[in-house]
Amino acid sequence: MFESGTNKFVCSVAAVSVLAISVALSATTPAIGQAKNPCAAKKPEASNPLNPCAPGHIKAPDAAHGLNPKAAQKAYDSVKGEMAAAFSQTDDTSASKYLSWKRYNIAPYESTEHGDRYLNNYTNKKSQAYVKYEKSGIMPVGSVLAKDSFTVLKSGEIYPGPLFLMEKMQKGFKPEFGDWKYVMYLPDGSFIGETNGEGDENVEYCGACHARVGQSQDHMFFLPLNYRVK
Ligand code: HEC
Repeated sequence: MFESGTNKFVCSVAAVSVLAISVALSATTPAIGQAKNPCAAKKPEASNPLNPCAPGHIKAPDAAHGLNPKAAQKAYDSVKGEMAAAFSQTDDTSASKYLSWKRYNIAPYESTEHGDRYLNNYTNKKSQAYVKYEKSGIMPVGSVLAKDSFTVLKSGEIYPGPLFLMEKMQKGFKPEFGDWKYVMYLPDGSFIGETNGEGDENVEYCGACHARVGQSQDHMFFLPLNYRVK
């Protein structure tokens, strides 16, 4: 469970990605842009149990839970390069650069709400007030928050997970989302959607959940207390 008093919602970034992926895969859903839809373009890779384009293989039933911070960090270090390579293939500067930004968790953290994934939170320079957590206030336009993810299996195999971004836009961009733009990429760097843009319907639920913490926290959830960088 989250230890932060504010993280009390049943939230799952892992479930979120599963949802987005199933949305992306659904034949009844309007295409999210053929050029950018990885699942339409590629054959699923059965060898990767986390390949989001392989139906039924999205979640790893044999995920390793409760890694200590050192082990979680070691696992992260071993997939970071692969993640950086995938996300730097996007034409999104934030996705290419976030690994050089400030990280706010002392080690990758897991929560029961996040199924099998370990997570990291980064921000660009504009939003370094994030370190004040619940007291951060309203972030300035141009702030970008990035959350990446990975899964460790009991066998020791490690797989990169999706990348989640929030970018603070001009006033009026999407008032009910606190003018945040939500963006999501699959582990191979493929684009899933962005608020008010291509694949908007695939990321609608991001802002809907984040809006629950509301204006007082500028739609930000932060991270478990014992993992916070001071
Ligand atoms: C069901 C609720 C829920 C949904 C849906 C959701 N998130 Fe989150 N998000 C959270 C929670 C809770 C946290 C902080 C705790 C954590 O990371 O475990 C968080 C943290 C974040 C952060 C770090 C910034 C912060 O809020 O402190 C980013 C970036 C983010 N989410 C992006 C997204 C994107 C993009 C989507 C959609 C693809 C999404 N989220 C969907 C609940 C949600």
